[in-house]
Amino acid sequence: MHKTTQTLGEFIIENQRDFEFANGELSRLLNSIRLAAKVVSYEVRRAGLVDITGTVGATNVQGEEQKKLDVFANECFINTLTNRDIVCGIVSEENEEPIHITGANNRNQNKYVVLMDPLDGSSNIDVNITVGTIFGIYQRVSPVGTPVTMEDFLQPGNMQVAAGYIAYGTSTMIVYTTGQGVNGFTLNPAIGTYYLSHPNIQVPEMGRIYSVNEGGYVHFPKGVKNYIKYCQREEEDRPYTSRYVGSMVADIHRTLLQGGIYMYPKSSEREAGKLRLGYECNPVAFLLEQAGGRATDGFRRIMDIKPEHIHQRVPFFGGSTQMVEKAESFIREAEDDARKTEIEV
Ligand code: AHG
Ligand code: MN
Ligand code: MN
Repeated sequence: MHKTTQTLGEFIIENQRDFEFANGELSRLLNSIRLAAKVVSYEVRRAGLVDITGTVGATNVQGEEQKKLDVFANECFINTLTNRDIVCGIVSEENEEPIHITGANNRNQNKYVVLMDPLDGSSNIDVNITVGTIFGIYQRVSPVGTPVTMEDFLQPGNMQVAAGYIAYGTSTMIVYTTGQGVNGFTLNPAIGTYYLSHPNIQVPEMGRIYSVNEGGYVHFPKGVKNYIKYCQREEEDRPYTSRYVGSMVADIHRTLLQGGIYMYPKSSEREAGKLRLGYECNPVAFLLEQAGGRATDGFRRIMDIKPEHIHQRVPFFGGSTQMVEKAESFIREAEDDARKTEIEV
């Protein structure tokens, strides 16, 4: 393991000049995220001790049960970003509408928007399993000095200037990219400092783990079923191992470090799958690509999809390039077969 004593704060300052639009604003924004993440990390770690787990009774936009820590994390990130007057808008999984931030003297001077899943994998909190926060950052497209618009939030993932996640796991880690590779930092909770622990993360081109909620197998498209069977077949390097945490952040973190493929396909029950394009798939796709991996919806590059609404869902296949390409070839083949049969009939 690479030994280093560089802190995240030092790293951000040192790399600030790499940003295309550098004037310190993006650095300040990343600093706010790392600060909010420390507070959420502290709270997540206390979850078993205080009466903070359990449902609040409200449901979020997607109709899912909302946990207290979802609310806490959401407020923590929103307040930190708002109070520090850094962004002009936030889209959160927990808020139906985008949050507009007019900033100091209502002058709309801030130029970044943040899309975030404040607490990912929230159903895992009560059973003491890794949860996370996912974020993607964009420059606004509307002019500075005017109110933020929907177009600012509906940019394709290829416009992200930075993205990352925080994993509240056995340790708390922040893994992010500004388009210059992917770096991971581990929090030393005793002194509240993140250290560069995983410099220049590279996802292996080929892995041996497939990760999917196989409970949905009967509802998956034919191509996905065929690919799963392929993963399980006995051949030189197969069957692959199956791993599925059910917290996207945890499953992606393992995939980044060890290789493999993570899938959330569409199904006969969920036409577009479950995962959200803006604040789950796009940030993760940016990280995977920056680490040499691949992320698609089975046909299209995730980051080239033009979002139509802020809570849009898309099927997701991401991880080691060779594995994702293999899955895509099964999906294409099944679609072609289905088309041929249609023509014949
Ligand atoms: P969230 O907790 O933000 O709603 O996200 C949960 C997501 C993702 O983290 C995870 O990979 C997936 O839902 C798990 O879904 P299934 O339980 O359907 O496998
Ligand atoms: Mn999520
Ligand atoms: Mn969430």
